[in-house]
Amino acid sequence: MKYVQKNPVPVPASGAFAELRTTIDAVFDWEYALRRQNLLALYEKGKALNWNASDLDWATEVDMERIMRERVGGDAGGLMNQLLNPPRPLSAEERVMFQVHMNAFMLSQFLHGEQGALLATAKIVETVPWAEAKFYAASQVLDEARHVEVYHRYLTEKLGVSYGVHPSLQALLDDILRDPRWDLTFLGMQILVEGLALAAFGLVRLMMTGEPLVQDITARIMADESRHVAFGVIALENVYGREIGGQELREREDFVIEASHLLRERLLMQPVFERLGWDVPTWVEWAKHTPFMIGFRQMTFSKIVPNLKRLGLLTPRVREAYGKMDLLRFEDWKDSLEEPETKPPEELVQLLLQMLSQSQGQGHPA
Ligand SMILES: [Fe+2]
Ligand SMILES: [Fe+2]
Repeated sequence: MKYVQKNPVPVPASGAFAELRTTIDAVFDWEYALRRQNLLALYEKGKALNWNASDLDWATEVDMERIMRERVGGDAGGLMNQLLNPPRPLSAEERVMFQVHMNAFMLSQFLHGEQGALLATAKIVETVPWAEAKFYAASQVLDEARHVEVYHRYLTEKLGVSYGVHPSLQALLDDILRDPRWDLTFLGMQILVEGLALAAFGLVRLMMTGEPLVQDITARIMADESRHVAFGVIALENVYGREIGGQELREREDFVIEASHLLRERLLMQPVFERLGWDVPTWVEWAKHTPFMIGFRQMTFSKIVPNLKRLGLLTPRVREAYGKMDLLRFEDWKDSLEEPETKPPEELVQLLLQMLSQSQGQGHPA
């Protein structure tokens, strides 16, 4: 693994290293009963499907500005203005830079989320009580290190634009890592953070047609992540409502509601508006209310909601909060055990395809 960090990732104002005090109970399993066959099967799959960052074609030339210029720089930009309904019409150059930065922001948050997953999974190895879950979690630790490596290389060597960790994502990762209860680590990381990432990857794949390297990266990481989310669902199935109830269940509900708000918060993209020198309050208001952005944020919960339902966590309190966020329409979608991968909702796909076909119809010079 050797690559040039041409454009280092920005470090947060608080510094390059953040220490977080965690108190956990590490658990040995001296019985090694290995009762959970579905976890063992997932562990075998994880080992068999390993890949290396060096399998990717790093010689691919990535010129995101050119790709975006072809897509939204010309006449199709009119449609983009229409579709996004921005606070003021954007010039061709602004549309290009907006797309470039939105993309860099999203990929950067994936990178930081991956580091969170690396730390959280290492914690799961220690805290989960069953040996077979420790085995699987250990294989996931390696997956997550590879994901950090690949996104970091892509951002610094290829894309050249990146963002530091969003404060809302950092707050959520801190909560997940600080909590001593093993099931909350699963719930926060495997069900919420990775569930959201899985849905967002589907969108990246759709939006980044024309950039083969990020397509390849996304497809490989998505395959890993769908196993990780399935791990969370298998591990937590039969826990809520059976082993955990009453006040303890209430605490899990609170956690889901609070974490869902934090996840949505980072999708408002304040740092992008700041970097572009646009009026942040105006644009955050826009991001909150414009139908396209609302659709995008909702879409990222399309796997989380059915998974919570399967775990018995779509309780009346969570249901009420999700109702307010208009997320209940995903409750009858397939969960991660019924369908490991995830598809973006049809309406969003149609909008994007419309935009892409308009830009392709313009006959751009190569
Ligand atoms: Fe990952
Ligand atoms: Fe993961």
